[in-house]
Parts: sequence; C-alpha cells; structure tokens
Amino acid sequence: MTSAYPRIRKAVFPVAGLGTRFLPATKVIPKEMLTVVDKPVIQYAVDEAIEAGIEHFIFVTGRGKGAIEDHFDLAYELEATLKARGKTAELKMMQESRPKAGTASFVRQQEPLGLGHAVWCARDIVGDEPFALALPDMLIHGERGCFAQMVDVYSKHGGNVIAVEQVPHEHVNRYGVVALAEDLGNETHRITGMVEKPRIEDAPSDLIISGRYILQPGIFAKLATQKPGAGGEIQLTDAMIALMSEEDFFSYRFNGITYDCGDKIGYLTANVALALDRPDIAPKFRQILLNLIG
Ligand code: G1P
Repeated sequence: MTSAYPRIRKAVFPVAGLGTRFLPATKVIPKEMLTVVDKPVIQYAVDEAIEAGIEHFIFVTGRGKGAIEDHFDLAYELEATLKARGKTAELKMMQESRPKAGTASFVRQQEPLGLGHAVWCARDIVGDEPFALALPDMLIHGERGCFAQMVDVYSKHGGNVIAVEQVPHEHVNRYGVVALAEDLGNETHRITGMVEKPRIEDAPSDLIISGRYILQPGIFAKLATQKPGAGGEIQLTDAMIALMSEEDFFSYRFNGITYDCGDKIGYLTANVALALDRPDIAPKFRQILLNLIG
C-alpha cells in the first residue's frame, strides 16, 4: 500500500522484566526465551515484525538477558554444521528468523522503573521517526500478523495506532483501557481517552491495550518528564495520554487471538493452542489431550 506517511522501519521490544511469576524457570533463562511449542516467546514477536516489513530490531534488555542477544545472533558453528549435513529445512528456518548483520540493537534498561522508562531507553536508537512497539509477553496468533494489519491502518490514517481487544469486564483492571469515539471503519476508531489499570468500576470500556503499538517519536519527549503512575512505575499509557492532546491516536481491533504468556495459564494455553494448530503435531497431541482429560 502506498502511503503519505513515513514507513515503519524499526521495532522496539522491551525484554528487561525479571519474570518472577515463572520462577524457578526464569532464574537463569530470560522469560522471553521460554518456548511455546518449539520457539521462544520473543521469536513470535520478532517474526511478526519481520512479516510487517520491519528492518531494525531494538531490544531493551537488562542484566541476565544475554541469551536473547545470542538467540538473534548468527550461530556460526550450528549453521555450518546444518549445511554440511544437508539439513536445508532447518538451515532455512534459522536464516529466515534472525535479523541480518547490523539490524539488531540492544540497550539496557538499568533500573526497573516501568514500561514507559524501558521505551524511553530506546530513544537514541529509534531517532526521529515513527516506530513499532511489541510487548512480547502478549503472543498474538492468527493468519496474518497483528503488526502487518496495524501497518495497513497506519498507512491510511497516520498518527499513533494501538491494537486493542475486548476482555471480560472483570479483567480490565489488569491492563490499559481505551475510550473510543468516531468509527473510521475497518475496526478502527479514534481514541479519546486511556487509563492504565483502572478500577473495574472506573474503566471507560472493556477494550484493552493488547501490547502492540505504532508510535510517533513525540512520545519520547513525554516519557522524559513522565512522573510515576499506576504501581509507582513510569507508565507508557500516561505518556500517550499526554501526547493525545497534540497528535492523533487510533485504536484497531485486530484479527487474531492473544495469549498472555506473562501469566502461567496464558502461557500453558498458548502451548496447547499453537500445538493444536500445527499439522505435524496436532493429530497425536489432540488424542493425548483427550485421553488426559478422560
Ligand atoms: C502493559 C501496559 C498495558 C497493556 C499491557 C498488555 O502493562 O502498560 O497498558 O494493557 O501491558 O500486556 P503490564 O502488562 O506491563 O503491566
């Protein structure tokens, strides 16, 4: 699609979280490296970005997250061995899912001050251009990637685009929640308000922020002065609210199913659902599941 707006070339992945909900698994292994079927959680978000045409991958990491950097590096001995043994399918998979030389950057969030602070840590690498942001815990599975769908919306409307989805009313206090106005068609609305982790009775809707954003670089100036909000953390949602008085914000209800892999039940559900969607695994696995359930 040709568009009047600058192309989205860069994506930011905040991966500094400690993963305390998954201890002891995450004592040594970053939570983003836990596997869903046979791929680390972080790889799903990166693949989604690759599908949407992203060219540069920016990881906001922290201490003990070195495995993520290694994962997206070229494993020279491994690839040479696969080549020598004629394992072309495996080799192709490895080559297609890693950023090319010079297209991955890593910056450390030195203190756990919140999501807004993590995004701010990427400001110099993003520079003065709009960018994509993925919270990798939210694994979005569907025929077409969420980011690819969002880039279409952005190409038409410009501005800032936030992926949203409906959740049961009693869950809204776990998320950022949006208030919508004008319906622009194709599941796209203008956003008039947002609130991070509202009390259930105060939530403006049941539409939550799903962990995929296209943001204008103006967000960094807002983040630079953003005071701590919900949970005592510097919240991205609060900085977006500040930016909303100057720039357009649109919500987009994407096609796809979200699995919150930051939560044990969500993570286990992702494993079962994605295994059942894999032709090489599903037939046997379905039978085993049925037997287990009795
Ligand atoms: C973050 C965002 C929130 C969003 C959520 C999605 O919250 O602040 O607006 O709804 O991710 O997972 P967190 O999960 O970091 O508490």
